Amino acid sequence: MTFVRNAWYVAALPAEVDEGLLSRKLLNDPIVLYRQPDGTCAALLDLCPHRFAPLSMGIIKDGNVQCPYHGLEFDGTGRCVLNPHGSGARPSALDVRSFPVVERDGLIWIWCGEKGAADPNAIPDYSCRISPERRTVGGHAPIDCNYRLLVDNLMDLSHAQFVHRANAQSDAFDRVRREVVVSDGSIQNLMMYPEGSPTTFVAKFLDSGNKPVDLWNDIKWNAVSSMLNFIAFAVSGTPKEQSLNSMGTHIVTPETETTCHYFFGASRNFAVDDPAVDDAFRAWQRQALIQEDKPIVEAVEAMRPVVQRYGLRPAMLACDEAAVRVGREIDRLERAEAA
Ligand code: FES
Ligand SMILES: [Fe+2]
Repeated sequence: MTFVRNAWYVAALPAEVDEGLLSRKLLNDPIVLYRQPDGTCAALLDLCPHRFAPLSMGIIKDGNVQCPYHGLEFDGTGRCVLNPHGSGARPSALDVRSFPVVERDGLIWIWCGEKGAADPNAIPDYSCRISPERRTVGGHAPIDCNYRLLVDNLMDLSHAQFVHRANAQSDAFDRVRREVVVSDGSIQNLMMYPEGSPTTFVAKFLDSGNKPVDLWNDIKWNAVSSMLNFIAFAVSGTPKEQSLNSMGTHIVTPETETTCHYFFGASRNFAVDDPAVDDAFRAWQRQALIQEDKPIVEAVEAMRPVVQRYGLRPAMLACDEAAVRVGREIDRLERAEAA
């Protein structure tokens, strides 16, 4: 298995790098993230060029990273700025690899590929997370599966009917309208549940007065593993634009072949000042993403040796179109990079 390296991935949430050195494995690379004196975030290979100690075991000294073992110091570009030994010579062999980092929309993005190819304009738009009209709650969770299994999970949200039945089962499931839209490098799976009873989750926020409710559950993918989920609900017949809705951050970053980082968030356009609604969304994320999605995708990952032994290919259902298209696109990116 391989990873597409020439791409932007989320490395961390801003609060995670606010306290000292953050050690994080991304695309199989040990990386250390920290804030420089000007507040910007830097990312270095977490491996001292001298005797390969992890720099994340060191300290931040005068805005530089000091290796825990023999005290070499590095700035945010990876340049060795101090050698406390001998004449203090600092040949380029003492520099450590650094990675381009962009902090945007409440996310810290990293580029693990060729440095010259890193274009911040290619970072997908998550400005909903910092919109003054919205309120965002979210977090980060380690998941024990290959990142593509979580992308699969997210690109087919019909699983909510079963995996998230306590909150999201809909009596309009049999009438769901699906559309897959491919444009400008993104792939969208649009689902609309017409004229149903409010799901348990919707009923918490929308008093429909016994009227039927329309529910939209759309998800958009951008390479390689950044997804934006639009959940909207309203009394049937209300235009989508006038719905109560939440724009969901769902970004997956490979850690190893069999583990990944899941960065999630929900940016709602209603009750933005209500901490009780914050709590309701946090409870939903805890239950749906951590207690329900995580065990399923990890159980699927655990089946990999059996699937390989029997030489199995996944069977296809009507709900799979978007996930299959995304899978093919990731395959294509992997091939292009290998070539
Ligand atoms: S291992 Fe870092 S200075 Fe020796
Ligand atoms: Fe789910």
